[in-house]
Parts: sequence; structure tokens; C-alpha cells
Amino acid sequence: MSEIKRTPIAAGNWKMNLLRDSARKLIDAVKNLNYQLQGVEIIVAPPAIWLPLVQDWLSGSDVKIAGQNMHWEEKGAFTGEISPAMLKDSGCTYVLIGHSERRHKFGENDEWINKKVRSAVSSDLKPILCVGEKIEEREKGKAFEVVEKQLESAFEGLGGVEMMGVVIAYEPVWAIGTGKNALPGDAQEMHRFIREWLKKKFGEDTAQRTRIIYGGSVTPSNITEFIQEKDIDGTLSGGASIKAETFLPICKSSIKR
Ligand code: PGA
Repeated sequence: MSEIKRTPIAAGNWKMNLLRDSARKLIDAVKNLNYQLQGVEIIVAPPAIWLPLVQDWLSGSDVKIAGQNMHWEEKGAFTGEISPAMLKDSGCTYVLIGHSERRHKFGENDEWINKKVRSAVSSDLKPILCVGEKIEEREKGKAFEVVEKQLESAFEGLGGVEMMGVVIAYEPVWAIGTGKNALPGDAQEMHRFIREWLKKKFGEDTAQRTRIIYGGSVTPSNITEFIQEKDIDGTLSGGASIKAETFLPICKSSIKR
């Protein structure tokens, strides 16, 4: 099968950062860059409270918006939660699911993550499923086993058609927010493993189309090394995504040569 070209992604997960004014400034800078930049899909994931504003500020641009989390139910008595339809209504195309902070700081389990993935897909939101091992799992040689288990459970019950548009973010837990990024070669090895898994599970077409992005201490200085790797289709940055002076260079360097 001939190789399918995958548009690289530069995604920014703001986490619980930025107030209205600083959010506006960052969005204006990203929007401006987007008019000049071809061949990279830029995604911003602001805190939920800013989503409708970000939707307005970005109007007329191609920058995509992602929710950072969602509940799997459509509506109801779930205080503090946000539904897939609410995210869509606020301009989201994507939603982060199973981010390591959700898994490890808020106790999200595999069953919930699977429910969220299925709910997002059936609501026409594209999940960015985050997977990744902890440091002790890597040291024990279990990184591949852990990631495979996360993939198996997150995508349980989905078929090839539902996988269209799904993005997978490989984010080793020990690399998130620590300044210790994975070696690009090690990340490539895991991305290749994930693509092989997709092929076994859903076939060659899904494996070739699915974008697998790397996250964990991505900066303007290391982005080029990641993006050069064959199976790395972009990045999900956190700390570097909340400042224009670091996020814009990451976006610019995300073009695959
Ligand atoms: P970081 O976060 O870039 O600050 O390491 C990445 C993420 O959590 O998505």
C-alpha cells in the first residue's frame, strides 16, 4: 500500500493556566501565525471556561480547539462535568482523553477512558487519546506492555470506521512537565509499536492514517528532532504551549520534511 501523507499536528494543552487577557493575547498570536503557515494543523486546548471565548477569537481561522476532558454522558446530574455536546457547541473539534494528569491525579480508570472515547466518537468529536508509561514501568522493561494495555482498553468496541480521525498522543508520564523529554529514537520506537498495534487491530489503512503525536517536555529546541522521526506526526506540548514565544516556533518547526 502506498504511504498516506499525514498532516502534522502542533497541539497545545494549556492545562489550568492563563486568565482571559493572557489567553486572548496568545490566541491572537496563534491565529496570526495560522494565516501564514501551511501544512500544520494547530490545536489549542484551553481550560473549559475559556472555550466559547476562544471560539469567538479564532473565528475565520483554521486553528482547531480541543477540550481537555469531558464526561461520557450526554447530560444530567453530573455536577462540575462537561458533556460532548457542550464541547461541540463551544467550537471543539477534538477532546483530550486519558491525559496522564487525569489518570494519575484524578483517578480516571481504563473503563472510564473507554466510555469517554466511545462517547466522543459517537458525538462526532475526535479523541486525542493519551497513553504512556510511568518511570518504574519503563525501568522494568514494561513500557510497551503498559501502552498496549491502555490502547486495548481505550479502543475496545471500536471498529475501523470509528477510528477515523482519532489521534493518539504518546506521553511518557516521567517526561511530562519535568524538562526530561524522551529520546527521539525511543519515542519513535514506541510510535512504531503503536502503529503496528493499529495495523493488527484495525488494518493497514487505519494504521497509515492515524496520527500519533509525542508529548512530554517538548520545546522549540527539541521539536525538530521529534518531527524528523518517521512515525512521529507532531506534538502535544504543555508548558511550552502557553507562551507565544515558545508555542509559535514549535508550530513552525512541525512541518515534516
Ligand atoms: P509538558 O506537558 O509539555 O509541559 O511536558 C505535556 C502534556 O502534559 O501534554
